[in-house]
Amino acid sequence: MFSNLPEPTLDPILSLSVAYREDPRPEKVDLGIGVYKNSAGETPIMQAVALAQNKVVETQKTKSYVGLAGCEEFNQAMKTLVLGESNVLDRVSAIQTPGASGGLRMLGDLIKVAQPNSTVWISNPSYVNHKPVMEAAGLKVKYYRYFCSATKQVDAGAMLEDIAHAGKDDIVLLHGCCHNPTGADIDFEIWQQVTQLALKNGFTPFVDFAYQGFGDGLEQDAAGLRYMADHVEEMLITASCSKNFGLYRERTGVAMVLGQSQQDAMNAKGKLLTLARATYTMPPDHGAALVKTILQDNELTQIWRDELDSMQSRLVLLRAALCEEFRNQHSTNDFDFIQTHKGMFTVLGYTPQQIARLREEFAIYAVGDGRINIAGLTERDIPYVANAILKVS
Ligand code: LMR
Repeated sequence: MFSNLPEPTLDPILSLSVAYREDPRPEKVDLGIGVYKNSAGETPIMQAVALAQNKVVETQKTKSYVGLAGCEEFNQAMKTLVLGESNVLDRVSAIQTPGASGGLRMLGDLIKVAQPNSTVWISNPSYVNHKPVMEAAGLKVKYYRYFCSATKQVDAGAMLEDIAHAGKDDIVLLHGCCHNPTGADIDFEIWQQVTQLALKNGFTPFVDFAYQGFGDGLEQDAAGLRYMADHVEEMLITASCSKNFGLYRERTGVAMVLGQSQQDAMNAKGKLLTLARATYTMPPDHGAALVKTILQDNELTQIWRDELDSMQSRLVLLRAALCEEFRNQHSTNDFDFIQTHKGMFTVLGYTPQQIARLREEFAIYAVGDGRINIAGLTERDIPYVANAILKVS
């Protein structure tokens, strides 16, 4: 049976982490996978998470099953974190999922059951896992133009032109903030225009919200998504706690459905639960228990928000410092676009060959599509990285 299988292809992001770990060169820099590192190059447990963890360990009395939807208090808290105090909350149902990738898959499976002929439109480029997950759910995938490689900004005109072709059986997948991989976000007016298109042409928006808090702040990052949720009849959302709670390995995420009515949302949840039962049964509890503990406690929430804000500010400073290095030490403002991008990532616009040279000649690991993770930089790395980026250009 297994001899019929082709040689495995490696995941372009996860395989980099393995290669980085095995690289013996002391100067190596990991700008691959989307993980936040502090000035010491470490990814410590966030303070609020460590405090919540102590609390959970002290108070938890059982490791018995929680339930198919995971922790309902977590689901409720995540609805508010993502959607705010919106008056559509009673039309939104939510299930806890193993990370936002788990949420993507569950929602993909739900689309396949509810509207089997759907095409999912994704941005070009997009998070490398979007296409495989949607195709694994049996859905067709089409691209809409998104990024202008000359300006390194969103090409909003082209994006809207392509999205205008999405019809009532279609799904349009958007990045809530901190677009992965480009770092170029749509502004609020574009959220409004996509919302108008959804209302006019009948497609369903699907928002992947993996970086809330890393762009401009928790509330600001949610503004476009919240506007959309307040205006459309149906919408799908998946959100991650990997980055903003630093819970990467705990696989903590949520999938939400906004229905035309509360009943529709509950029916969708029921279907999601049977899909989850047939896939992984129920999500792991620990990460959600920590997030719930933080979000139900004002003091812990404040500690968490403060730390997240300082991570966000540091990303802005790192971007500025990298641009300054190019300007002051190499007399070029060709990289000023880095400062206009949001969140962890920026696309350099380099070819796979140039990215391979960064890795081979300088031990700098970036994703093959030219994405670098600014959150993987330390202040100390900046001169070395800027010099290498120029050397391979
Ligand atoms: C990334 O894009 O680096 C992260 O979202 C990690 C992942 O799951 O691929």
